[in-house]
Amino acid sequence: MAQKSSLSSTKPILLDQKFWQDFAKNNWEKKPLLLKNVKSGLLEMSDAEIFDLLVLYSDRCRKTNNPEGFKFYIQGFKVGAEDVLQVLPVKKDKSLLGYHKRMKDLFSDYCLVCDELLTVNLKKQHLLTDFTNELYRHVGYPNRFSEMGLYLGNYRKTPFGVHVDSCGVFSFPVAGTKKFRLWPSEFGKKNPALDRSFKYDKYKKDSQLLEAGPGDMTYWPSSEWHIAESDGSFSATWSLGIWVDKPQKDMVSESLKSLLDKKLGDVGHKVTTSFKNLHKPSGEVFELPEAYQQSIKLLQTLNSLELQEAFLKSWMQHISLQGFKTIPVTNCKLSVKSEIQLRSDRSLILWQQSITSKEKIYLSFGGVLVESSFKSGLLKLVKALNANKACAVSTYLKGASQKQDLVALQALANAGAVAAIK
Ligand SMILES: [Fe+2]
Repeated sequence: MAQKSSLSSTKPILLDQKFWQDFAKNNWEKKPLLLKNVKSGLLEMSDAEIFDLLVLYSDRCRKTNNPEGFKFYIQGFKVGAEDVLQVLPVKKDKSLLGYHKRMKDLFSDYCLVCDELLTVNLKKQHLLTDFTNELYRHVGYPNRFSEMGLYLGNYRKTPFGVHVDSCGVFSFPVAGTKKFRLWPSEFGKKNPALDRSFKYDKYKKDSQLLEAGPGDMTYWPSSEWHIAESDGSFSATWSLGIWVDKPQKDMVSESLKSLLDKKLGDVGHKVTTSFKNLHKPSGEVFELPEAYQQSIKLLQTLNSLELQEAFLKSWMQHISLQGFKTIPVTNCKLSVKSEIQLRSDRSLILWQQSITSKEKIYLSFGGVLVESSFKSGLLKLVKALNANKACAVSTYLKGASQKQDLVALQALANAGAVAAIK
């Protein structure tokens, strides 16, 4: 299993500043890359650790009777959710290869996909965020998110054939050899028969084949048509997709939504619109109903501070997810008697002072946003937690705002921010 890359004897490639600068300039959304023998925390995770994570996640799915996050394909066909639970890894498999041995006796061609495996375990998540944070620093923070999936099996081809996604993809093989066949986007557009195809021999001469083993890394831009190929032997690969399908204009309109809702007040809640005339006999539409006139007046009172606050709030909420769709949540019921600390010293609770009301603060974690008062103990508590201190809730949350702050703290805890020590 501990198969090494063919160039493993050569000096490992460091993903340092120079690498990321070159990557941003030459490869990001431009051209594919194959790097042999890369030094990255992501690649230091052993197959035994990955197996343990898979079992942990599978156990959770079995317990909740919900295989969400797992997909299973047999001969390219997706298996129904209720059957996925039957084919997940179990502790008795002992290793990835043990699991494979059990599966290959049942299926000649199977593929298990586990999305966001690393995000179920906050302790391991930094391996991923160390990588993505550097990437974001050089190419920008994704407006959508990144997704990390583990692809495992003996499938000969990607179950859905040659395709293009709206994400740039980094792959890190964990076991076995992985081959990715790629075509540039112009070629895909000129040859629509490639789409979802499994038979593409005549197009092979125009493709590029990336062949990677454990310790290697590949990247292809979002526009690249691709398919994974294998000779039917076992492989396991991390795949990190950076979605690039959400333009800034969508970010702006989403940020404005809650501000507009608030501004419009009662007018915004009406579900029918009174009118005098719909249109003239000629069909010309010439007058705006009263509700719109009122809305215009209300919107004219919007000022740049309110806009700034709306954008800052939604930006904070967005980055509190650390670039992912979800981050690991917890089940921890807090009280004033609890003693708590951050679940990870790299995952801070973000906060900001309101621009329009000096008294107010906003706090955010894992996509959740709560409000509190600048004078309340909650901000002091959050600052102490962010400084990596273990904190007794009762030391900070006191007086009239205690109850309200505890509700806000519980919401942050539910999003995965803190762990109770006592
Ligand atoms: Fe894909």
